[in-house]
Amino acid sequence: MFVLNDREYEYISRAVYDYAKINLTEQKRPLIVSRLSKRIRELKMNSFAQYVKYLKEEQTGREFELLVDSLSTNFSHFFREPHHFDFLRHEVLEKAGREQLTIWSAAASTGQEIYSILITIKEYERETGRKINVRLLASDISRKVLEAASKGVYQERDVEKVPRPVLENYILRGTGEKSKLVKVKKELVDKVNFFRINLNDKIYRLQKMDVIFLRNAIIYFDHDTKVELINRLHNYIKPGGFLILGHSESLSGLSDKFELIGKTIYRRIGDD
Ligand SMILES: C[S@@+](CC[C@H](N)C(=O)[O-])C[C@H]1O[C@@H](n2cnc3c(N)ncnc32)[C@H](O)[C@@H]1O
Repeated sequence: MFVLNDREYEYISRAVYDYAKINLTEQKRPLIVSRLSKRIRELKMNSFAQYVKYLKEEQTGREFELLVDSLSTNFSHFFREPHHFDFLRHEVLEKAGREQLTIWSAAASTGQEIYSILITIKEYERETGRKINVRLLASDISRKVLEAASKGVYQERDVEKVPRPVLENYILRGTGEKSKLVKVKKELVDKVNFFRINLNDKIYRLQKMDVIFLRNAIIYFDHDTKVELINRLHNYIKPGGFLILGHSESLSGLSDKFELIGKTIYRRIGDD
């Protein structure tokens, strides 16, 4: 491990905050040291001073993106928080008309969330014979996770919670040396529009959504960032549309423009 002095820590934590609004508090200092020491070794450097100098001089911003990637949490899995997918089925799909539904996974990570949404829709269509007119969007600040998401390849253990008969309709199993891997079928991957969005940008080039999944992302933001983001997202949800948060997240004290209608499920209040 390399030694991270106060000036270097402040530079890194300030730069990450300015870019992604991810709060690298003093408690996260050991994490910065361990994750970036690995990167410093990969670059064949021998100190944080050298690395910070490189970060400042590197023009493309790619190294900075790698740094943010290495310090953020990308954990996700298929059908995480299953009640959200029950809600999608019973309150959104069953009530959907002919108009196009738009669903956005706004901190999509490696794609398990958007594919769980899509599998829920496909299963609903299969069971009812109905066709849902839907546009699916998945975005993240990290290009690396989006690249993985758009490949749709996972470890077999990642899909353990998906009932096997359901799984077989949407996922291919690897063979030979890939026998521990599964791959989401191409026809599903092709249904998702992947793109990069920093949620803390002031505007997004997006239409209004019926449902936004914003799960397990705002937990990393401070209060003011959360307030700003939630008020911005209000403009990207249709009146009566839904915002879904992660299990330990809440809009309490952040916005009065949404009402809580289920466990971490909010409905947008008010007309346009
Ligand atoms: C823990 S994962 C959540 C994945 C999925 N939503 C779930 O609940 O399983 C958090 C994701 O938020 C993304 N993220 C963090 N800051 C972001 C920002 N400012 N804009 C967009 N995405 C961000 C991270 O890159 C990461 O992939």
